[in-house]
Amino acid sequence: MGNFINPSSSSSCSRPLLLFLAFLAILLLQFSSKSVFPIRFVSGPSRPGDDVPVDPRSCAGFFGHVGLPRRKVAMSIAEFGGVGDGKTSNTETFRKAVRYMQGFGHKGGSQLNVPKGKWVTGSFNLTSNFTLFLEEGAVILGSQDPKEWPIIEPLPSYGRGRERLGGRHISLIHGDGLTNVVITGQNGTIDGQGKMWWELWWNRTLEHTRGHLVELMNSNNILISNLTFLNSPFWTIHPVYCSNVVIKDMTILAPLNAPNTDGIDPDSSTNVCIEDCYIESGDDLVAVKSGWDQYGITIARPSSNIIVRRVSGTTPTCSGVGIGSEMSGGISNVTIDDLHVWDSAAGVRIKSDKGRGGYIANISISNITMKRVKIPIRFSRGANDHPDEGWDPKAFPKVKGIFISNVVSLNSTKAPVLQGIKGASFEEICLKNVTILGLAPPRTWQCEFISGFASEVFPMPCLQLQNNGSSFWCSYS
Ligand SMILES: *[C@@H]1O[C@H](CO)[C@@H](O)[C@H](O)[C@H]1NC(C)=O
Ligand SMILES: *[C@@H]1O[C@H](CO)[C@@H](O)[C@H](O)[C@H]1NC(C)=O
Ligand SMILES: *[C@@H]1O[C@H](CO)[C@@H](O)[C@H](O)[C@H]1NC(C)=O
Ligand SMILES: *[C@@H]1O[C@H](CO)[C@@H](O)[C@H](O)[C@H]1NC(C)=O
Ligand SMILES: *[C@@H]1O[C@H](CO)[C@@H](O)[C@H](O)[C@H]1NC(C)=O
Ligand SMILES: *[C@@H]1O[C@H](CO)[C@@H](O)[C@H](O)[C@H]1NC(C)=O
Ligand SMILES: *[C@@H]1O[C@H](CO)[C@@H](O)[C@H](O)[C@H]1NC(C)=O
Ligand SMILES: *[C@@H]1O[C@H](CO)[C@@H](O)[C@H](O)[C@H]1NC(C)=O
Ligand SMILES: *[C@@H]1O[C@H](CO)[C@@H](O)[C@H](O)[C@H]1NC(C)=O
Ligand SMILES: *[C@@H]1O[C@H](CO)[C@@H](O)[C@H](O)[C@H]1NC(C)=O
Ligand SMILES: *[C@@H]1O[C@H](CO)[C@@H](O)[C@H](O)[C@H]1NC(C)=O
Repeated sequence: MGNFINPSSSSSCSRPLLLFLAFLAILLLQFSSKSVFPIRFVSGPSRPGDDVPVDPRSCAGFFGHVGLPRRKVAMSIAEFGGVGDGKTSNTETFRKAVRYMQGFGHKGGSQLNVPKGKWVTGSFNLTSNFTLFLEEGAVILGSQDPKEWPIIEPLPSYGRGRERLGGRHISLIHGDGLTNVVITGQNGTIDGQGKMWWELWWNRTLEHTRGHLVELMNSNNILISNLTFLNSPFWTIHPVYCSNVVIKDMTILAPLNAPNTDGIDPDSSTNVCIEDCYIESGDDLVAVKSGWDQYGITIARPSSNIIVRRVSGTTPTCSGVGIGSEMSGGISNVTIDDLHVWDSAAGVRIKSDKGRGGYIANISISNITMKRVKIPIRFSRGANDHPDEGWDPKAFPKVKGIFISNVVSLNSTKAPVLQGIKGASFEEICLKNVTILGLAPPRTWQCEFISGFASEVFPMPCLQLQNNGSSFWCSYS
């Protein structure tokens, strides 16, 4: 078939590891760097926009305005002929409205208001200097006609659709090359009505990769706040090749069995701040990514300066926060703080594989509370999940500098499972003040191809993390 994806494999969650046979004997690539890596917390982008004062405990400074930017013109979708009856298609109306409002991009910007009602629509694009505002009781409903989600080019850093070869369905709400975009309101709802798409996935008749609920590409200065997003066909919010993105005060829900309905996936993006979100879904609540194997390596767009703070929720087969598994452009300077996860497969998970290349570096994870999480901390590799035969078995990821502190996990099932990659050990893994309760004895950690240091950790960590001399880089916080 020439397709390395098995039907369930873009769900990179709790599947048992697949074949690890082929390349075991090949290539020991040693990273010989002994450099010391102090971990600091990211406190904001290096150049906050428009002289915004930076509050280290909030996303202020990531988006170039204090509060919501004022727009010169505001109009309602009803003024463009929209009908909010839950039946009439408003696809052309939304497209027409945005085309009209584009004209105000250089004249003080514009705001499109969506009043109370149920507004069915297919995919539409946003524009720059623009606010989409959902009033209280406003519900945007994703069209049930796949043709209303046209096919667009695959992302260059993935080389193909994530689930199927070739192009992919566009997201319901889309933007490319934009600046200064706000999607907000009075807790209005955008409901992707993804059930049809999940069924296509389950019954294996999906032809092209599913669309996201909201995807912004090559854009900067984005704010998504104070809304409820429901039932995305695929990953819910996907900023890719973006910078200065704030996502806050969001409720993101999908059925717990809905495939690949990740909450928020910053991908090859920098200066992203996610805070105060409640997420319940069938996949990772937040997953930081940066492209897939040889395509991600070639495009080389890292994700860096990412803050994830005060996020809570549940995902029974996946993780609270995932890093990877697509990480081929590199991921660094990620701060995860104040995460609450329950009834989930993992709390924090770092996923990589041979063929990915790239790096994961300077990751700080602290103040995590978990309840009934099966494997609270998990590093994993190898699901044989590659875009095509062109992946490079010599492209090892480099994972270095993961600092995990102040973690309490209650009613856990397993001790941490920390599996690096043969020939590319994960280095400088530092755990401090980590307490995992509820385990049945012998409470043994599973560690392989990792090295680092642990202190104030219960139950007793694996040998690879014990007394390894170079503990001083761990004392940063
Ligand atoms: C957006 O507004 C800013 C400030 O008014 C202006 O400088 C910029 O050119 C506008 N951008 C677009 C794409 O309309
Ligand atoms: C939306 O933008 C994409 C490119 O990002 C384009 O392919 C598509 O045709 C646009 N859709 C509309 C309705 O303009
Ligand atoms: C968020 O939504 C709530 C509930 O509708 C509203 O009262 C509040 O003003 C909104 N906040 C912002 C910052 O828009
Ligand atoms: C917004 O609506 C959702 C869904 O109804 C609800 O769970 C959430 O509490 C609301 N958020 C706010 C801030 O009112
Ligand atoms: C698969 O699911 C889709 C969406 O619900 C449905 O239209 C289609 O008939 C199903 N196909 C099969 C073979 O079950
Ligand atoms: C990690 O942090 C160190 C020190 O803060 C810095 O020198 C290094 O460039 C960072 N690495 C990456 C990949 O960002
Ligand atoms: C990561 O943070 C460190 C320390 O703040 C900084 O030196 C480095 O340049 C950052 N790396 C990136 C890729 O932003
Ligand atoms: C973790 O929580 C403690 C106590 O609430 C707080 O003092 C500390 O600043 C938090 N850590 C980070 C990195 O925010
Ligand atoms: C250890 O972590 C717990 C849970 O986050 C926190 O309450 C406690 O203050 C931490 N202890 C130290 C010494 O930092
Ligand atoms: C969960 O943990 C608490 C406190 O350790 C314990 O009392 C309770 O029995 C545990 N529940 C289960 C189902 O293991
Ligand atoms: C300490 O780390 C080095 C690599 O940095 C590794 O070779 C060694 O096995 C580690 N020691 C223990 C006791 O795990």
